[in-house]
Amino acid sequence: MNFRDVMHEIGLKTLDGVTWSDGEVEVELASSPREESDNVGMTIRYFYSREVGRGNGYRMLEKICHCADKSATKLYLQPRPYRQTEHGAIKFGNRQGGLTKQQLIEWYSKFGFKKVNSRWMGREPK
Ligand SMILES: CC(C)(COP(=O)(O)OP(=O)(O)OC[C@H]1O[C@@H](n2cnc3c(N)ncnc32)[C@H](O)[C@@H]1OP(=O)(O)O)[C@@H](O)C(=O)NCCC(=O)NCCS
Repeated sequence: MNFRDVMHEIGLKTLDGVTWSDGEVEVELASSPREESDNVGMTIRYFYSREVGRGNGYRMLEKICHCADKSATKLYLQPRPYRQTEHGAIKFGNRQGGLTKQQLIEWYSKFGFKKVNSRWMGREPK
């Protein structure tokens, strides 16, 4: 099964490069050009929890990792905090109550992400 098939099986409905929300967490995934042919990587381009600290981010990331494992897909992301302004714009910087850059790195590490360089983290499928 490919990543998208597993995703649809468990009710994640986001398309490549389109931001989608399950009502709790907004997510944008995009096929990563870093990998070749049969084993395409997936980049988490946007990840934003409506209400922080309630485990919603954890549950969403668990689902994404499940899709990656079932389809043997590598995941990539840049651990860099951002926040939504009152006008709906996105700005880099700490969100009140959200995770800082260092906390993001530690949090993603629990899911198996490792630093690949100064900006990116990657996760091998299990
Ligand atoms: C990163 C983010 C999506 C996490 O979403 P979330 O819904 O808060 O996720 P969780 O509730 O699962 O909490 C994440 C971790 O922070 C801790 N945490 C967060 N808020 C907390 C709070 N108020 N009190 C105690 N712990 C808190 C949790 O213990 C959890 O750690 P754990 O999984 O080891 O237990 C959220 O902080 C966010 O939207 N940040 C702004 C956007 C952003 O920077 N996105 C990431 C870009 S790479």
